[in-house]
Amino acid sequence: MNPDPAAATPARLPPGQLPGQPLTALAPMQDVTDLAFMRVIAHYGAPDYFFTEFFRVHAQSRPEKHILRALDENTTGRPIFAQLIGEDLTHLTRTVALLLRHPIAGIDLNLGCPAPKVYKKNVGGGLLREPARIDEILGALRAAVPGRLTVKMRLGFDDTRHLDRILDLVNRHGVDLLSVHGRTVKEMYRSEVRYDAIAHAVARVRCPVLANGNITSAARAAAVLRTTGAAGVMIGRHAIRNPWIFRQCRAQFAAADGFRPTLADVHEYVTRLYRETQVPGLAERLHVNKMKKYLNFVGQGVDPDGAFLQAMRRTESEAALFAVCDRHLLGAPTQAFALEPYPGLIARPNCETPAPLLPA
Ligand SMILES: Cc1cc2nc3c(=O)[nH]c(=O)nc-3n(C[C@H](O)[C@H](O)[C@H](O)COP(=O)(O)O)c2cc1C
Repeated sequence: MNPDPAAATPARLPPGQLPGQPLTALAPMQDVTDLAFMRVIAHYGAPDYFFTEFFRVHAQSRPEKHILRALDENTTGRPIFAQLIGEDLTHLTRTVALLLRHPIAGIDLNLGCPAPKVYKKNVGGGLLREPARIDEILGALRAAVPGRLTVKMRLGFDDTRHLDRILDLVNRHGVDLLSVHGRTVKEMYRSEVRYDAIAHAVARVRCPVLANGNITSAARAAAVLRTTGAAGVMIGRHAIRNPWIFRQCRAQFAAADGFRPTLADVHEYVTRLYRETQVPGLAERLHVNKMKKYLNFVGQGVDPDGAFLQAMRRTESEAALFAVCDRHLLGAPTQAFALEPYPGLIARPNCETPAPLLPA
């Protein structure tokens, strides 16, 4: 056996859709990137890679059934990485063994979740305070994962003091792909993204890096690739707003004209999302609330004053929701949907139900 895992050839990444182009990935998002949402995104133009929302790993955990469905019933035509959040070596390796029975592209470790109830348990972003623990976890995972092992991290917890040590661990354990969200845990979601720090990570690690954070459009994706030198981009919230973004990225990378959606196209997207997220027995009010979480992001591209957002937030039934969509999206159906979010419009998905969509 090779005593130095980094010396082993890292398992090759699944090929992207267009050879030679930068990679694209849909960022893992809890309560968002489920089977239904991945199907909808794939309809409008799949990214090269998908990631599941995280499987929670602890002494009593079993892989969550609804997340397994996303793997087992994957009809997107693209590979899905299974993300884990946890810190107990025995239970992480036990979970890996269970997940290996499902069609996964690889195992991804979450080193970034900023929700206090998560990081206080020293998992997710909490682990960024303890590089020694990350060393043990990556060692155990590398031994347990015969295929691809990937990591998704933020830059640090309060600051970037451990960044280089953690990047060196990524090298030491032969990680196959690193996604870097260019903020610390304490910076949550709204601060500027540190693309210079992502460029630093690209220069320091041997594996391909996906740049993540505030990639709002295909044009931004190309700019971020230029400034970071990353192998690809990972896009989260802006794919909820604009499901055509991966298709537009591929056109942008080929210097071709990208698809320009109209408000009528957005209406079709909302209708499809409603149909795909319909679950037998789900009360209409809860379904509408779930839709409103997605529409908080979509609304950032509908009108500059946020009129759609305000009207949508007041709806409580399917009929009221679609009446608002008809009025705001079919009133001027050929009008362009903004490629960049309108400035000043804030998505507030957590206001829709007591259970937050954005990790608090
Ligand atoms: C609703 C929501 C849920 C998220 N859940 C996860 C998750 O399960 N695992 C993870 O690694 N990151 C999660 N994230 C972080 C995203 O993957 C991504 O790093 C972050 O949103 C920044 O990228 P963006 O600006 O493209 O959205 C979540 C983000 C959001 C908005």
